[in-house]
Amino acid sequence: MKLDWPLMENNITMEDLNVLIEFLKGQPRLTQSENVKAFECEWSEWLGVRYSVFVNSGASANFITMAAIKHLYGVGEVIIPPLTWVSDIVSVVQNGFKPVFVDINPKNLCMNDKQVIAKLTDKTKAVFLTHVQGFNGLTDRLLDVLKKKNIPLIEDVCESHGATFKGKKLGSYGLASNFSFYFAHHMSTVEGGMVCTNDRTIYETARMLRSHGMVREIEDNSLKEKYIRENPELTPDFIFALPAYNMRNTEIGAVFGRSQLKRLNENNAKRRKNFEIFLNNLDPAKYRTDFDLEGSCNYAFNLVIKKPDPQFRDKVEEAMRDVSVEFRRGSSGGGNQLRQPYLKGIVPENEFEKYPEMEHVHFYGYYIGNYPDLEEQKILNLCSLLNHI
Ligand SMILES: Cc1ncc(COP(=O)(O)O)c(C=O)c1O
Repeated sequence: MKLDWPLMENNITMEDLNVLIEFLKGQPRLTQSENVKAFECEWSEWLGVRYSVFVNSGASANFITMAAIKHLYGVGEVIIPPLTWVSDIVSVVQNGFKPVFVDINPKNLCMNDKQVIAKLTDKTKAVFLTHVQGFNGLTDRLLDVLKKKNIPLIEDVCESHGATFKGKKLGSYGLASNFSFYFAHHMSTVEGGMVCTNDRTIYETARMLRSHGMVREIEDNSLKEKYIRENPELTPDFIFALPAYNMRNTEIGAVFGRSQLKRLNENNAKRRKNFEIFLNNLDPAKYRTDFDLEGSCNYAFNLVIKKPDPQFRDKVEEAMRDVSVEFRRGSSGGGNQLRQPYLKGIVPENEFEKYPEMEHVHFYGYYIGNYPDLEEQKILNLCSLLNHI
């Protein structure tokens, strides 16, 4: 039996390509313009926030958000998970914050909320939570404490578009949130990301940070005038208020985004159903099936072996390779980030050992692709194969 199941499948359809072709026939401007603006408005409406800033990747969204926090609140500590993408941690470190790590909750692979609360200090500038692979990482307890202590929550929703907490979309709770539209995420703009917020100051700061730190990107005239007044010797079109880069996206990305957004809810419902079939048919004696699925919207199947048995693990990997099912060990982002060389000299040696739940997923957790048009029989075949090991 061959299942021929790649990790990612192209989710840009002929319908999206035709929309783009029609757009291109008008010989339009292709750099950031009206479609970017329209996509930002449509995305904000879909998410339930006031403002969105379309950028060239999820990593850029992470970087801009942390740079905005630094600009507005100064540096200090940022609480962050060891199971996330490299850019979450790098954006913290490169903006001068000290990363403070917290172990994961095995039920949702996101940070353990009690441990987050225990690590809050008067130096904490933000909690940078990743909603891992479609799972919700929020709890009332965490939101209440952060509100009481007035500590900003930043949500990385790059892997969880459309997932909810108490019926409200993830990414609409924090001071700011980040999305990725990379190939094979819930939706794609080829490359792309979004910074979302209800906060006007974060929005204006993110707009500047996306475009070389330029004041002319500010929409609020009174704020723009303030910078112009304070810099009388500079030409108003070239006031670089913040140290920044060019992280803009294009009209092409926005045209794809607007077209894909129309199918997002429908595709998410299919992915949700697929994941439920997968978990309902896996043997709970061998694999973890007790994930907290409330509000989840997974673009990947999480396969976590129950017992730390390296021989069993080798057999699982061999079985999946034999039938051509692509997988990634360590789940999201290559497993325990604290084991990665880029953190050498930044975190103490052997720090990774302090996070046992993370370590288990690093060695015994996988993700497998979950696409809207995955056939039920294929999922059942994979479960049967895994259960017979
Ligand atoms: C949690 C998380 N944050 C950030 C990113 C970065 O997004 P991008 O690949 O669009 O730069 C990813 C990438 O998949 C991710 O999974």
